[in-house]
Amino acid sequence: MTTAQCFAGRFIHTPAPDQLQVLEQALVSVDSAGVIVSILTPQQDGYSQSVAAAREAGTLTRAEGECFFIPGLVDLHIHAPQFPQLGKALHLPLEDWLQRCTFPLEARYSDVEFAVSVYSSLIDTLLANGTTSAVYFSTIHREATAVLAELCLQKHQRAWVGRVAMDDQGQCPDYYRDASTEQGLLDSEQSITDIRNLPGNTAARVQAILTPRFIPSCTDAMLQGLGELARRYDCPVQTHCSESDWEHQYVLDRFGVSDTEALDQFGLLTRQTVLAHSNFIGSSDMSVIKQRGSGIAHCPMSNAYFAGAVFPLRKALTMGLNVGLGTDISGGPSASQFDSCRCAIAAGRMLESGVDASVSADQRGIADSRIDYIEAFYLATAGGGDVLNSPIGKFETGYHFDAVMIDPAADNSNLQFFEQLDSTEDLFQKTLYAATRSNIVGVWVDGAK
Ligand code: GUN
Ligand code: FE
Repeated sequence: MTTAQCFAGRFIHTPAPDQLQVLEQALVSVDSAGVIVSILTPQQDGYSQSVAAAREAGTLTRAEGECFFIPGLVDLHIHAPQFPQLGKALHLPLEDWLQRCTFPLEARYSDVEFAVSVYSSLIDTLLANGTTSAVYFSTIHREATAVLAELCLQKHQRAWVGRVAMDDQGQCPDYYRDASTEQGLLDSEQSITDIRNLPGNTAARVQAILTPRFIPSCTDAMLQGLGELARRYDCPVQTHCSESDWEHQYVLDRFGVSDTEALDQFGLLTRQTVLAHSNFIGSSDMSVIKQRGSGIAHCPMSNAYFAGAVFPLRKALTMGLNVGLGTDISGGPSASQFDSCRCAIAAGRMLESGVDASVSADQRGIADSRIDYIEAFYLATAGGGDVLNSPIGKFETGYHFDAVMIDPAADNSNLQFFEQLDSTEDLFQKTLYAATRSNIVGVWVDGAK
């Protein structure tokens, strides 16, 4: 395929969890499908000719001055309908928060106009914060779910969109529940075809994802039926897994096994499964998740409010699990994946040191729990790509060109670059810790701005 677009300047990414790579004055060429076809540095043959040709063709975008490109951020766990609740109602335990705040809000999306207005502003906000790939829970409503998918397509955000299945009469209120198990399954199935058949979705930039809310809201028949749909449609799956003490214990009481085991028995653990939270998973759960190739959406911001424990991230990474990060809007109070990175680093440090000063330092924490900024950025980009089994999150040939341009000298920047003091690595570290949306001056998905 011919080159459609070229991007030139400094590129910074994390091709591996322990590797920060800076490509100076690189030329990244992208084909008409938005896939990277070559990356040239000034030392390589053909560099000058390619730059000149792109300039002449008017297809060259440059990162000027101190600006640089990073891969677009991948947010593995977002509740789109909860956007109006971002930054409030964080004081309740999960089970009360759902019943008192969240279900009443989500029920409103039977109103399609309301859905259009909230979802438009959510997608705009996420893109402005550099989130080029988003994995969404919508609501039980098929129509509003299609609206979300359509808006992602229109606004050019890569997305996985799931109609939420929840049919259990004991756990879900009358005003917000699938009309029956059969109707819920039918709606979930039709939602897959709604999304796959969206006009203009030929490249499948927006994908359907089966979404049992979590085990407590679903009957056995619903979980079984969704497992069958996952197989029949080769469709990704997302759900919440072992999130809080209450939720983890609820599943143990109901099935005598953990969330992981139960989901596996229903055929819901596949290479295309995203498990949100998973804070209470043990070694045997991790082995099952690893065997199935499923991935975890680590949501450190939300976990601070609802989980009662810190996700054993280091252990999961050491066992070779696929892990990425999620904001969990509105369980987490920020729409920025930079904030997820910051919180993941802080949570790891607190897990390592321990938090109770009345316990002696050598007994307070769990050794080797920390991650650094490079690992955090990997999780927020390529790690998310690993979980989704998608070539996104790094600058490599064959990967989608999903990218963000950072301007450290943007107006109203908290991030300050001191040329005499800061290396390029320092600049990147400062970006991770201090960038805000003011520093995000360009966002591309599949090479399109
Ligand atoms: N478990 C079931 N539903 C939800 C939700 O909306 N948010 C979170 N954080 N956990 C859940
Ligand atoms: Fe969630």
